[in-house]
Amino acid sequence: MKSDNNPRHIAIIMDGNGRWAKRRLLPRNFGHKKGVETIDRISRYVFDKGVEILTLFAFSTENLRRPKEEVSGIFELFSTYIKKNLPDMIEREIKFKVVGDISVCDDGLKTLIADAEKQTEKFNRGKLNICFNYGGRADIVNAANKLIQEGKTVTEQEFADALYTGGLPDPDIVIRTGNEHRISNFLLYQMAYSEIYFTSTLWPDFKEKELNEIIADFKKTNRRFGNIEQ
Ligand code: FPP
Repeated sequence: MKSDNNPRHIAIIMDGNGRWAKRRLLPRNFGHKKGVETIDRISRYVFDKGVEILTLFAFSTENLRRPKEEVSGIFELFSTYIKKNLPDMIEREIKFKVVGDISVCDDGLKTLIADAEKQTEKFNRGKLNICFNYGGRADIVNAANKLIQEGKTVTEQEFADALYTGGLPDPDIVIRTGNEHRISNFLLYQMAYSEIYFTSTLWPDFKEKELNEIIADFKKTNRRFGNIEQ
């Protein structure tokens, strides 16, 4: 964290798209579509505010159990999102990265992801991580297996570097929208010292104003990381 107490890394569990749609008697995928509009607004706002990293939980390994048409709808939205936003990410110098096991994606989506990551890899004005088919426990187990193969004892930092998010600082703030008070297998290792905010706002209704209030509250917190007040 920077000395001005600004968060460097914000992570969000974007929950509530389904309920947003249901309340309007619309199919669940309308909620996800509306959720993508919120991603567009919030990501722009976050990077304009000078936050360096935004990590969004878009699809968990458990979400694969949802009805086929909902799953394929989300994959489709993800493809469209990349195609539509890549030019803008390049223009704004945002580094794009997908965090998770993308082996479940079809070749078209894998190519889109690889291409977007390659075209933005040198940028550092902002970093947008989309967690897709991501699970925190799987992340930890993968890292452990990788390190076992290398056959060495590791430090906490070396372990962190073996995770999908290796090289990035841990999130300062984790937000969950949608009025559920759980972590749902998100960045389990990485959020050890994150400030966690739960809001009842459904993701499609989440606005810059509320994010701003969360950031303002975070700036007032005194993070001691297990130490005492100095
Ligand atoms: C949680 O709401 C949301 C998801 C499981 C999917 C989020 C996906 C997107 C915003 C679209 C994907 C787009 C990109 C760019 C990756 P929920 O469906 O669990 O809502 P509910 O709890 O109200 O049912």
